[in-house]
Amino acid sequence: MENIVCVGGQWGDEGKGKIVDMLASDCDVIVRFQGGNNAGHTLYANGKKVVLHLIPSGALHNEKTCVIGNGVVVDPFVLTDEIEALQKRGYLNHPNSLWISPTCHLILPVHKLLDRVREDAKGDAKIGTTLRGIGPAYEAKIGRRGLMMYQIQNRKQIQKKMGHLIKRANRHFSALGSDAITDEECAAMVDKLMVIGQKLEPFICDVSDNLEAAIRNGKKVLFEGAQGALLDIDHGTYPFVTSSNCVAGHASAGSGVGHKHLGKVVMVAKAYLTRVGSGPFPTELNDHDGEMLREKGNEFGATTGRPRRCGWLDMVALKHALWVHGADEIALTKVDVLAGFSELKLCVAYEINGKRVDRFPWDPSDLAIAKPIYESVTGFSQLKDPTNGSLSSLAAAYIRKIEAICDTKCTLIGTGPNREDVFFN
Ligand code: IMP
Repeated sequence: MENIVCVGGQWGDEGKGKIVDMLASDCDVIVRFQGGNNAGHTLYANGKKVVLHLIPSGALHNEKTCVIGNGVVVDPFVLTDEIEALQKRGYLNHPNSLWISPTCHLILPVHKLLDRVREDAKGDAKIGTTLRGIGPAYEAKIGRRGLMMYQIQNRKQIQKKMGHLIKRANRHFSALGSDAITDEECAAMVDKLMVIGQKLEPFICDVSDNLEAAIRNGKKVLFEGAQGALLDIDHGTYPFVTSSNCVAGHASAGSGVGHKHLGKVVMVAKAYLTRVGSGPFPTELNDHDGEMLREKGNEFGATTGRPRRCGWLDMVALKHALWVHGADEIALTKVDVLAGFSELKLCVAYEINGKRVDRFPWDPSDLAIAKPIYESVTGFSQLKDPTNGSLSSLAAAYIRKIEAICDTKCTLIGTGPNREDVFFN
């Protein structure tokens, strides 16, 4: 059975949660492989809203196994709260419902503090991070200083690593005029971690080995990406990116499953474009149309509640994302939000310093001055044809145009927030 990698094709918030939830019904195991609780996936099941930050969006299918792979950075407090909240609602209750990799790196309170203090110090140059400590936790991982999930019950190791991390962080805090963390505060954090560690311990297991067994036994695995290609640390709009690789290929390193087992890649993209945080955004609309997209699309962050910046679909960026993901197909979400616009625009190239540019620039200062070159598409007042319930011809024409420009099929069309609001194309 072919496995699936489902990833974001823009600056996150593409509506992956709903697509993963849908694809999960046909899979046995759902794996998160990067990012942390900077992600926020909003799902609607039986009319109820559920927002997940760390647990894979397959959690609402009771018989499945959800996995947090080694590539994820885990805030153990957030994870415990999320597990308990889901269990109260009747999910994650069977013995194999959650596997957590022992080699995930932990986001500690000191990382969150560092994230905030550094962002504050940057002033206008701030990245606009989610302040969840993601960057500092990945820095500790790459700097070989991190505390890992398997150490969460080992008081000596926690004390040693945490002491070291806090000593380093205090140097930053004092340079930036912020209060240092005291020894008493450090000791209290160690105690809290020991308590939380007891709650997480039953779920910690050899994820890579378990996934190997699952795949050998013919189980179907769905790898769930967080954020999106344009936030990828290597292939996104650096430095306005997150601190992990969000591309589909990273599903292998972030879960301990060899790349040949990854299967097909479904890239989720919104029918328009949004971004939270700072950074260049050539098709951004600071006008009535942008406001209309934000209001109709309810474009406010699921994690931070921040209003999202909105704009027309950028096909140059989309083609870049398709390539770096190696995507086989597109799931195009929120097409319903576009109903009511008399004209829709697709950015097919940029003008940079008077020259037409067809490729996505690697230098953010080029992207910052890029003027979009648009192709206009007739808008649609109704998404569905009232006579037969299929997509209206004008809505279908918009989708055909996207498919033609990027030579990739939109196999799933999202037409609303609920599970059932989907067309198969
Ligand atoms: P961080 O991941 O919190 O360090 O934030 C870095 C950048 O990525 C900021 O611009 C965030 O707004 C953005 N970001 C991180 N996670 C998400 C997400 O799930 N959706 C959209 N943007 C995100």
